[in-house]
Amino acid sequence: MKNLSVLLKSLSVVAFLFALCSSVVAQDQKAASAWEIPAKYKTMKNALKGDAASVNVGKNLYAKHCKSCHGGAGLGDGPKASSMKTKITSFKDAKFQAQVDGAIYYQIVIGRDEMPAFDKKVAEEDDRWALVNFVRSLK
Ligand code: HEC
Repeated sequence: MKNLSVLLKSLSVVAFLFALCSSVVAQDQKAASAWEIPAKYKTMKNALKGDAASVNVGKNLYAKHCKSCHGGAGLGDGPKASSMKTKITSFKDAKFQAQVDGAIYYQIVIGRDEMPAFDKKVAEEDDRWALVNFVRSLK
């Protein structure tokens, strides 16, 4: 019986250490730094009106390509988010929404580091702007 209690104690110590390590790993994400947006993107005009039709097109593309990392409501909490080295900013963030449309277009189409470039997967200009419009609708 004594052996059993020793065993149970060591198991709980191991479980505790494991929990501690995984919480440290989860907190180890670095905060995103500011994006440098090339001038030609900053001045790009959105090809679409931000109307319900384009937001809906964007919503479907988002569910297919983005939700797994950014989460359904754009909070940066999709199933893959915790495995990223960089913490994903919420699309509800005021500073994020304060950017011009062309900056968001750049982030989606060109990307950087763990944010994939969607230039090939979302090849149509209208689809890219529909994604911008959907992301805007999440604020
Ligand atoms: C594999 C995970 C992953 C997928 C899929 C993904 N993203 Fe990202 N995204 C990220 C990460 C991580 C960042 C932060 C990168 C950084 O700051 O360096 C990011 C950043 C962004 C940003 C910039 C936000 C900011 O201020 O940091 C936008 C906009 C964005 N993503 C939109 C999208 C859209 C739209 C899609 C789908 C077409 C998409 N992402 C798909 C991981 C992903």
